[in-house]
Amino acid sequence: GQWFVVLITGCSSGIGLSLAVGLASDPEKNYKVYATLKTLNKKQRLLKSVTEFHRDTLDILQMDVTDRASIMSARDRVQEGRVDILVCNAGVGLMGPLEVQDSKVMKDVMEVNLFGTLQTLQAFLPDMKSRREGHILVTGSTGGLHGLPFNEVYCASKFAIEGLCESLAVLLQHFNIRVSIIECGPVNTDFMLNLQKTEIGDCALDALDSHTLSLYERFLLHCGTVFQNAAQDTEDIVKVYLDAIRSPEPAFRYFTSGTVPPLVKLKTTQPDGLEYIRAMGELIFPQDHEELQQ
Ligand SMILES: NC(=O)c1ccc[n+]([C@@H]2O[C@H](COP(=O)([O-])OP(=O)(O)OC[C@H]3O[C@@H](n4cnc5c(N)ncnc54)[C@H](OP(=O)(O)O)[C@@H]3O)[C@@H](O)[C@H]2O)c1
Repeated sequence: GQWFVVLITGCSSGIGLSLAVGLASDPEKNYKVYATLKTLNKKQRLLKSVTEFHRDTLDILQMDVTDRASIMSARDRVQEGRVDILVCNAGVGLMGPLEVQDSKVMKDVMEVNLFGTLQTLQAFLPDMKSRREGHILVTGSTGGLHGLPFNEVYCASKFAIEGLCESLAVLLQHFNIRVSIIECGPVNTDFMLNLQKTEIGDCALDALDSHTLSLYERFLLHCGTVFQNAAQDTEDIVKVYLDAIRSPEPAFRYFTSGTVPPLVKLKTTQPDGLEYIRAMGELIFPQDHEELQQ
C-alpha cells in the first residue's frame, strides 16, 4: 500500500506502546506499524489496546535490540520490504551510587541504550540510503543533555545517543533522510519500575560512605516528587512524535514540554558549566546550597 511503514522498538509498555497504537489508529490509515518487542510473551498489554480497526495497520514482531540476528529477522519480516520511519525507543535505566554498580549491569545499560540503537540503525540504514528516503526518530532524554547525580551510566548512554544522532544527521541530509530526537523529561511509564535501582538497605550500600548514602536518599525523594508532580503522560509524547513525523521539514531536536527546559538552556548560556552544576545541585539538595557557598 501507499502508507508509511513504521517500525518501533520497545513496544511492550510506555512510550513505544502508546506510539504504536497512536500511529496505527490514524483515521486515514496512513501508517502501517510494526510494533517490536524484546520478547513476545510481553505482548498482552499491547494486545489489549488492539481493536478490529488495527487488523491491517498493526503487526507485532519480536526484536531484541541487543541481538543482531533478531533485528535482521524482524527487518526481513516487514512485508512491504521497506521501513520509512524507524523509531529507536527501547531503553533501560540505572540508578544508584556509581561505586557500587556491578560492571555487568553497567554494560547491560550501554548494550541496550547505545549499542542496541547503533545496531538497529546499522540494519535499516542501507535500505533507507539506497531509497534516498526515510525518517529516523529516537526517544531521547533531558538526561542526555545534562547530567544527573546517581544516573551517571544512564546519562552517559543518553549523551552518547546525542552524539550518535547528531553525527548521523549531518551525513544523512545528503540522502534525504531526517533524524529527530524527541527529548523527554519524566514520563509516566514503566521506566521507573523497570530500571535497575540500588535500593536503600541493599547490602551493596554497606561499604558506601555515609555522606553519599544520605545524598542518595535525598535524591530518591526528589526523584519521587518530580515524577509525581511533573511527569508527562505518554499521550503527550505521542503528540510530539506525530508533529515530527508529519512535518515536511522535521527538526533535529524536539522538547516534549514545548520549550527548552531552563536547565538545558543554562548549558548553552553559561558554557563553563559551573552554573548548571550549581543550579542542579540546588534543585536536588536545596539545604546544602548555603553550606557549599561558605
Ligand atoms: N519514562 C521516562 O521518564 C523517560 C524519560 C526520558 C527518556 N525515556 C526513554 O524513553 C524510552 C522508552 O522508555 P519508557 O519510558 O517507555 O519505559 P518502559 O515502559 O520501561 O519501556 C521501555 C521499553 O524498552 C524495551 N526494551 C528494554 N530492553 C530491550 C531490548 N534489549 N530490546 C528491545 N526492547 C527493549 C522494554 O521491553 P521489556 O519490557 O521487554 O523489557 C520496554 O518495552 C527509553 O529509551 C527511555 O530511556 C524515558
